[in-house]
Amino acid sequence: MGVLVIGSHKGGVGKTTVALNLAFAVARRGWSTLLVDADPQGCIGLSLQGRVAALPGLAECLRGEQQLDDVMCGTRLEKLKLLTSGQASVQELSAGITALADTSAMGKALAEAAARFDLVLVDTASGLFGPTQAALRNADHVLLVLQAEPLALRGLPLQIELIRQLRATDRGPAVAGVFLTMIQSRNSESMGVVQEALGVLPVELTLDAFLPRDPVFLKASAKGVPLGLLYRNPPPVATVFDSLAAELEPRIGLLSKETEDEAVPLVD
Ligand SMILES: Nc1ncnc2c1ncn2[C@@H]1O[C@H](COP(=O)(O)OP(=O)(O)OP(=O)(O)O)[C@@H](O)[C@H]1O
Ligand SMILES: [Mg+2]
Repeated sequence: MGVLVIGSHKGGVGKTTVALNLAFAVARRGWSTLLVDADPQGCIGLSLQGRVAALPGLAECLRGEQQLDDVMCGTRLEKLKLLTSGQASVQELSAGITALADTSAMGKALAEAAARFDLVLVDTASGLFGPTQAALRNADHVLLVLQAEPLALRGLPLQIELIRQLRATDRGPAVAGVFLTMIQSRNSESMGVVQEALGVLPVELTLDAFLPRDPVFLKASAKGVPLGLLYRNPPPVATVFDSLAAELEPRIGLLSKETEDEAVPLVD
C-alpha cells in the first residue's frame, strides 16, 4: 500500500533500531509488512546474523538479477518479511557506485513491493543523498529520526526543507513525523532538546512516542532481534514501538476497514 522511509541526516541516531522494532510492531498489529534494508552497509542484514547478511537482496533486484519473490526472507512473524540490501558487484565496488542509488530501478522495486504489502518500511543510510535519496524519491512518507543531544536540532529545518523541495520539484515523501531517540530523562541537556524540538516543530510533525536511551538496545543489536523477541516478557521500552505504530498508522494511510473496527466479544 505505502512506502515509509526511516531517515536522518546524521549517522548512529537509531534508524536501524527504529526500522526493525517498528516493522515488528506494525506486523504484530496485523499489517503485512516488508522491511527493506536500503543501506549499502547492510545493517539490518548484518544484525540478523551472518547467514542472512550474505544472501542476495535489494541490490540484485535493482540490477535485474533476481525477482523480489526469490530474495524476500520470512521471519518469525507471519506478517513480516525482510529484504536485505544484497551484495555489491565487483564493478560497483571498483567504480565506487552502488546499484541501490538507481532511482528508477528503486522505484520499480518499491512499487512492486508496495502493491503486495500493507507497508514497505525502508531503513536507509544517513544523509539524504545516494541510495537514501533514491528511496526517498520513491516513498510516500518519511519518518525522521532525531537523537536527543545538543545541536541535534541544528540540521533539522534544512532536512525538512530538502524533503519539501524533493516533493515540490519531483517525487518525494511527506514527513510523517520526527521521532526523538536516545532520550535521557535524568539529563537536563537531553530533556532540553526534547523541549526545544516540541517548541520549534510544527505540531503535525511531533509525536507523543519517544525512545529513551536504554542499554537493552545494545543487547538486542548484538543478538540481531527486535526487543519483542529478546525476552519472553519484553522490557517496558518495547511498548514504545506499539505506541509509535499506533500514532503513525493514520498518518501513513494504514486504516482498518470499518467492518474490522467492531469490538470483538471477549467470550463467544
Ligand atoms: N534508544 C537507544 N538506547 C541505547 N542504545 C541505542 C538506542 N537506539 C539505538 N541504540 C544503539 O546505538 C547504536 C546505533 O544505532 P543504530 O544502528 O540503530 O543507528 P543508525 O542511525 O541506524 O546508524 P547508521 O547511521 O550507522 O545506520 C547501536 O549500537 C544501537 O544498539
Ligand atoms: Mg543504520
